[in-house]
Amino acid sequence: MLASKSFIAESKCSKTCDLALASCYLLKGTNLTYISDIMKSKVLLKREDIVSYNTDTVPNKDSFIGDSRVNVPFPCDCINDEFLGHTFLYQHQQKDTYASISEFTFSNLTTKERMERDNVYAENSIPKFVNVNVNVTVNCSCGNRKVSKDYGLFITYPLRKEDTLESNANDTEIEADLLQRYNPGVNFSQGSGLVFIPGKDSNGDTESKFIVVDKSPEFSYEELANATNNFSLANKIGQGGFGEVYYGELKGKRQENYIAEMKVLTSVHHRNLVRLIGYCIEGSLFLVYEYMDNGSLSQHLHNSAKEPLTWSTRLRIALDVARGLEYIHDHSVPVYIHRDIKSDNILLNGNFNGKIADFGMTKLSDVASSTDNTDHVVGTFGYMPPENAYGHISRKIDVYAFGVVMYELISAKAAVVKIDKPSTEFELKSLEMKTNESIDEYKSLVALFDEVIDQDGDPIEEGLRKLVDPRLGDNYSIDSIKKMTQLAKACINRDPKQRPTMRSVVVSLMTLNRIDSAALSLAMEHH
Ligand SMILES: *[C@@H]1O[C@H](CO)[C@@H](O)[C@H](O)[C@H]1NC(C)=O
Ligand SMILES: *[C@@H]1O[C@H](CO)[C@@H](O)[C@H](O)[C@H]1NC(C)=O
Ligand SMILES: *[C@@H]1O[C@H](CO)[C@@H](O)[C@H](O)[C@H]1NC(C)=O
Repeated sequence: MLASKSFIAESKCSKTCDLALASCYLLKGTNLTYISDIMKSKVLLKREDIVSYNTDTVPNKDSFIGDSRVNVPFPCDCINDEFLGHTFLYQHQQKDTYASISEFTFSNLTTKERMERDNVYAENSIPKFVNVNVNVTVNCSCGNRKVSKDYGLFITYPLRKEDTLESNANDTEIEADLLQRYNPGVNFSQGSGLVFIPGKDSNGDTESKFIVVDKSPEFSYEELANATNNFSLANKIGQGGFGEVYYGELKGKRQENYIAEMKVLTSVHHRNLVRLIGYCIEGSLFLVYEYMDNGSLSQHLHNSAKEPLTWSTRLRIALDVARGLEYIHDHSVPVYIHRDIKSDNILLNGNFNGKIADFGMTKLSDVASSTDNTDHVVGTFGYMPPENAYGHISRKIDVYAFGVVMYELISAKAAVVKIDKPSTEFELKSLEMKTNESIDEYKSLVALFDEVIDQDGDPIEEGLRKLVDPRLGDNYSIDSIKKMTQLAKACINRDPKQRPTMRSVVVSLMTLNRIDSAALSLAMEHH
């Protein structure tokens, strides 16, 4: 039971459900093909699904609808553990702005402000040359048992100027008083804003049953053995600090319930943390994680067989990781310190979004070591701050390690680098103590960067350029690299109190990402 205990924490979403409906207002000449194309998400929306929720208005998927509303089913998730909603991935079109996407394409189901917060690109500076997905977050509701126990499926409904409480009550056949109690204090005639209205599914049911939830996160040994070909060598994809890692395919019912399960299994979720899907305890402890298509950041930086990551991608991955860390430091309940941040523990999904892996593992191993009384060493050399030696544990340990990761992103060098000439750096003394090996040929990445930073803490351009990953060629902005170097330098300050919080690191990286994407779209216009 070790695993489940360590991973489950309180969530701010008091109640969750699997399904909600989004009321989209369609202009003349639109059909459901269009709707299912724009409202893309991780779960496949089948056109037939949409039809089944709109039998009154839409006879089939090809029929045209115009100037009317359709209800689009979507999974109602707990976003950042803070509120109920779902993030759609919308493929950005040439002329789109956040205002046009929110007000027209998504019929005011979201707002321009929300989109600005959920996307790293500034308004009007979304790169135009690739099919960029932008995040569109739509709120949802799972009802409120204090208001009524009869309804569990809710429509997220953007009010338009023709709406009133009475017209809504008439259209939905729900009493006006009940509508108002589900939306306390909301004036239905205000012409804008969201309300939540009880809905019905294709069978006329008012409960949400879209995805059948199998509540148990526990897998049997047999299921895992089947999924991984009996833990065959061919399925082994890695060796983590805590055990072996296998790729497995969960077939049949399990797979269908994948998304619903993730939600109930662990309540600490965030888009920048690798999700724990489940566990099995039969002899050993097995943990089931979401599969990350592009492997680890470390592989991409240090393995020349992989395409080099562009500077923009590196900037974005840095922001992703910073957001994940900020989340576990400040927002998850309870808060966590990762204690082993390194490029091996940063995984990349199909879109090269960075996610932190092995999160919660330290906690788990703490519990394990306190029972068998072994002293578990946490952390990886090259990423550990000086105070680690004295056992001082604080969030600032992760901030330090993250600083080293930023140096890695710039240089594509490992945290401890083999060099030609012997080093006399003080920094290396601790390495000697740790490994009892000859350390003459090694140097920490931190020490390498220290050599190109002047007395005032400013990077020296000439030296810095020599440290930049040669595989970037000339495709980087030295200004951007200087800024990241300064930020990393602040993160690796010897005095933990002087290091920034992850919150302020996120803010700095957001600015860097904005400047970068603005420069990119400018460059494209000039072509
Ligand atoms: C439905 O709309 C899409 C996009 O607007 C369009 O390309 C397609 O031809 C339409 N389908 C039919 C059957 O008219
Ligand atoms: C969205 O809201 C704006 C401003 O209130 C309004 O002009 C626009 O028509 C709305 N869009 C839809 C599809 O209702
Ligand atoms: C969605 O919910 C969040 C959190 O409760 C709230 O801050 C935001 O205003 C809501 N968005 C809309 C469009 O109502």
